[in-house]
Amino acid sequence: MSEARLHRNTGLDLVRATEAAAISAARWMGLGQRDEADQAASVAMLRALDKLEMDGRIVLGEDSRVDSPPEIYVGRAVGTGRGVAVDVVVDPIDGRRLLAQGRAGAVSVAAIATRGSLWSPSPAAYMEKLVVNRTAAAALVPECLDAPVAWTLALIARAKGKAVRDLVVFLLDRPRHRDLLDEIRAAGARVLLADDGDISGAVLAAEPDGPVDLLIGVGGAAEGVIAACAVKALGGEMLARLAPQSPEERTSLADVGVETRRILRCGDMVTGDQIFFVATGITSGLLLEGVSFVHDRAGTNSLILRGETRTRRRIQAEHLITAV
Ligand code: FBP
Repeated sequence: MSEARLHRNTGLDLVRATEAAAISAARWMGLGQRDEADQAASVAMLRALDKLEMDGRIVLGEDSRVDSPPEIYVGRAVGTGRGVAVDVVVDPIDGRRLLAQGRAGAVSVAAIATRGSLWSPSPAAYMEKLVVNRTAAAALVPECLDAPVAWTLALIARAKGKAVRDLVVFLLDRPRHRDLLDEIRAAGARVLLADDGDISGAVLAAEPDGPVDLLIGVGGAAEGVIAACAVKALGGEMLARLAPQSPEERTSLADVGVETRRILRCGDMVTGDQIFFVATGITSGLLLEGVSFVHDRAGTNSLILRGETRTRRRIQAEHLITAV
């Protein structure tokens, strides 16, 4: 049987879903209503996804980490039900707190890959991640997950022909990263400490010309699998390992027999190259400009990545709001 193929225009269809979610979400910027914004963005995203000619299934959700809207759950069918069978992962708002506080860097994200090609460690909530771009891909060896970070930074610096002090490391500002942050600072690298949004951080680290040399640290598991789609489509590399943050999470993983010690590469989380990753900015950040509103129009900025051809497309769109 020949492998199912995704049409080259799939990314342009899929981006309508993140554009719709971003426009809905952007109305809630700075209003302090995180869950209401998430709900509105989720409904808008699903409505747009259900118009797409595909037989999609959501394979991983954020619900074990956050109270995600009930509409988005593992196993939900998306699309018209006709067309190629695909796995779907979505995050209508990555950076819900950023949006609620009107801060930079909230994005809407979705990825699809042919059915059966996305790893789904449900009910995992957290994952350790390391991401680099294609220049440093060969330097990211499994030992990096347990070695002192100074060693990993030296490998990346050598691969990139830079000094360690010139590297920029992205990590989430969390108490669990306190020792890691001290180690990075002691090694002499520069740090981009983010309040939220490690999907954007992973894309910034995987881009061939991005402002980040390494993403490191523990973040959401669903976010990790979505990020793996982007990293693979960009030709970068990612190492990951589940990192349960509570006894409850550990127990629920043990109950369903999910192995937590396994070290995964990007290609273990996303097999094959029939992948599309799309993101639309909600509030302006390093990766994407946010949504702008003027009268009855909304302006959006998006990124579309296609695995098969490694095409990276940035698109700017203007929408008549009533038509979205
Ligand atoms: P949400 O927008 O879904 O809240 O996610 C934001 C985020 O920063 C992710 O980018 C990241 O993977 C995760 O939260 C980290 O989880 P936590 O905030 O629990 O440390």
